[in-house]
Amino acid sequence: MDVQNFDRVLVLDFGAQYAQLIARRVRECKVYSEIVPYATPAADIAEKEPKGLIFSGGPRSVYEEGAPRPDPGIFDLGIPILGICYGHQLIARELGGEVRSTDFREYGRVEMQAEEGSLLLKELPLTQNVWMSHGDSVVHAPGGFTETAHTAGSPVAVMENRERSIYGVQFHPEVAHTPLGMDILKNFLYHACDCLPAWTMVSIIEQMVEEIQAQAGNGKIICGLSGGVDSAVAAVLVHKAVGDQLTCVFVDHGLLRKGEAEQVEDTFQRHFKINLVHVKAQERFLERLAGVTDPERKRKIIGTEFIRVFEEVAKDLEDAQFLVQGTLYPDIIESGTKDAARIKSHHNVGGLPDDLRFQLVEPLRALFKDEVRAVGEELGLPEEIVWRQPFPGPGLAVRIIGEVTEERLEILREADDVVMQEIKKAGLYRDLWQSFAVLPAIRSVGVMGDERTYAYPIILRAVVSEDAMTADWARIPYDVLERISNRVINEIRGVNRVALDISSKPPATIEWE
Ligand code: XMP
Repeated sequence: MDVQNFDRVLVLDFGAQYAQLIARRVRECKVYSEIVPYATPAADIAEKEPKGLIFSGGPRSVYEEGAPRPDPGIFDLGIPILGICYGHQLIARELGGEVRSTDFREYGRVEMQAEEGSLLLKELPLTQNVWMSHGDSVVHAPGGFTETAHTAGSPVAVMENRERSIYGVQFHPEVAHTPLGMDILKNFLYHACDCLPAWTMVSIIEQMVEEIQAQAGNGKIICGLSGGVDSAVAAVLVHKAVGDQLTCVFVDHGLLRKGEAEQVEDTFQRHFKINLVHVKAQERFLERLAGVTDPERKRKIIGTEFIRVFEEVAKDLEDAQFLVQGTLYPDIIESGTKDAARIKSHHNVGGLPDDLRFQLVEPLRALFKDEVRAVGEELGLPEEIVWRQPFPGPGLAVRIIGEVTEERLEILREADDVVMQEIKKAGLYRDLWQSFAVLPAIRSVGVMGDERTYAYPIILRAVVSEDAMTADWARIPYDVLERISNRVINEIRGVNRVALDISSKPPATIEWE
């Protein structure tokens, strides 16, 4: 999305894990924010016409050889600057203050004492707790700066040059452990940068709708629906913008969870009245998967078949020029730092190749996941879709160890449904990154009534995670585990045992295949 109409603040990324979090927090203060590499030339920064700049934290010491530095011209642009942690030390160093490497490492929650008359700490108590994580400290602020707060380990925890509108904080206002951090950011955004809090869901939607209309004109648009939140929100947005020019294609590979296909029809066709092509392709997929046990081959077969089906449908919609993709901002953030040089590949909804003949429409490309959810709620999408846990493209096929057959799919689908119901009933669904059932390729002996059984176990997998890169197994209360176990064993034929996966990632992965 082009975001010309919003005041914007740029976050210069000095290689911290916090840059994204800072940008998200700024947006929570209703100011549009983007991340740029720290080495972005001052002229390029000026061209973006930001109303403020934030220097993020970073893992290096300002005295290290090759420590990342911004274009010095940045300080002469007359744009308000806030430095955080490493950014704070950098400002001190670049403008003639003194930073010292101390043996005393300040880490964790620390009490900070402020002076009267600070702009950043305006209307906040003089004593507050802040979150610190640093080795070096600013010991003298540069000339022209006032030192407005200190802690035991940081003689200059906050410094301010009101005339040049340059500010620095040693602590991390963006983390939840700094309880008044958002107020401090707001003071910078509203009082130093004069930003208007206009980045609201309603105005974001209006803006996106206008842009989709401008891009598409009278053209026809196709959108692949996966059942996930990104493609769902993108579809409803595009529909709001161009109505019947949009056709959604839902390739149902038969590897979805219970009730999911019906929900897609209910929501998009019946509720939003969107043109929907629902391709019921379970048989095709099962045929191709017959006898296949290797996880990567399963993925490949499903991916290839998915594209084939989609292309067949697209052929029938030959006058369509545009394809909607649910690309999000984190997918396209470029980090210019040497250590973290990366441009994440755009991942496509449903794994469609880029060489399809379409022009791409990517209405969510400026948004973070939590903003996508908020837009979805604002557009009236049901909670089950907006807050759906991530679900892999190859679906239940990678949760069935060994061969995928209709019978085994049915067992897993029912077990998964019980898990989902009980997790939701216990109020745990949103707190868990994912919670689901896995069907392994083993059977064990059991007894039911007077009968000996020889049946599958179901493995319960539930994890907490921030981003799926790492995950911890979830501590589900015993009574919830008991209900799941009882129901799965009693209600599902072919299952006689429930086991709990208590492995974290790494070294395990979230999925079993
Ligand atoms: P793992 O199992 O690698 O999963 O810890 C990390 C996250 O990725 C999801 N996942 C997939 N998503 N296609 C997808 O679209 C896949 O083949 C796939 N494999 C894993 C998984 O559910 C978790 O959220």
